[in-house]
Amino acid sequence: ELGDYDHYMLKEIYEQPRALAATFSAAGGHEVADSAFGECAAEIFDRVKAVQIVACGTSFHAGMVARYWLEELAGIPCEVEVASEFRYRKRVQIPGTLLLTISQSGETADTLAALRDAGTDDFVGSLVIANVDNSSLVRESDLVFLTRAGAEIGVASTKAFTTQLVGLLMLTIALGRRNGLPQGREQELVNALHALPDYVQQTLALDTAIKALSEAFIPKHHALFLGRGIHYPVAMEGSLKLKEISYIHAEAYPAGELKHGPLALVDDDMPVVAVAPGDELLEKLKSNLEEVRSRGGELFVFADRQAGFTSEPRVRVLAMPHCPEVAKPIIYTVALQLLSYHVAVQKGTDVDKPRNLAKSVTVE
Ligand code: M6R
Repeated sequence: ELGDYDHYMLKEIYEQPRALAATFSAAGGHEVADSAFGECAAEIFDRVKAVQIVACGTSFHAGMVARYWLEELAGIPCEVEVASEFRYRKRVQIPGTLLLTISQSGETADTLAALRDAGTDDFVGSLVIANVDNSSLVRESDLVFLTRAGAEIGVASTKAFTTQLVGLLMLTIALGRRNGLPQGREQELVNALHALPDYVQQTLALDTAIKALSEAFIPKHHALFLGRGIHYPVAMEGSLKLKEISYIHAEAYPAGELKHGPLALVDDDMPVVAVAPGDELLEKLKSNLEEVRSRGGELFVFADRQAGFTSEPRVRVLAMPHCPEVAKPIIYTVALQLLSYHVAVQKGTDVDKPRNLAKSVTVE
């Protein structure tokens, strides 16, 4: 089953162009029809005024990315919370809230319990984005969007995350249409979804360059990941991947928080990874990064190849494919998946079955 790959994780990273295309086309492709989410989706979507996302781990990070899309593109207030916290908190519910769970397995105990607990609250309905048909979350939700990632065997979630983002962007379009998303903007988003497999393929072509960067992490015990805006959850996902499979302690921070504490940690033993596509926040991020460099830290900058970053002593730049804004969280995540993979392989850890972890967490 592994074919030419050494690990399932690598195989699954490389399956992403196909998985993304399959997820988009199985959900109706360009049409982005309400029916992709279930028979009574239109009726529920018409009443949605807010979205509450609940998930764990990597699926939680997908929800964090989606929050930016739902608020910015669809104008819909969105909260995101890890399932284990959501369950145990007394909440104040905005009327007209859609409960959205996200789960590769559809069996994560905390997420399932959150859905069950929420049953009595005043939600307009529940939607799950899941990769396993007929799983518990699928059976117990009003609406379902199935990702078509295929079986994900590696404990580290890769293709499930990126296909979840396809479902989440399609949901943003479906809700945005009801809330003034201009037709032309919708067309641009659909075009980006259509072209996504190609941008991911271009990112996979950087594998050798990413492996070369990864070598610097092997002797390290800690790493910082920085991002701003929608790229902060991408940094969180990159840091989760690194800690999960390479056992290097990694933390993610919104870049602007650096000087409010974590900058004290930065020295020449602390590599800093910056997710810095050429967005409007780039200039601020550049000045944050300058602070790190002047303290002896080594920077690894993942930047759009048109952004004008160049490598210099202690700053190593990986020039990423140029692509539409909405595709960026996906392709930068793919690059960080490869970074973690290569660090872990060279450290000799059990990449597909990291210590202490299970693929599906069915206990609370
Ligand atoms: O099956 P789920 O998406 O509900 O799983 C949630 C988390 O347990 C999972 O994403 C976990 O964080 C991964 N091992 C991360 O790579």
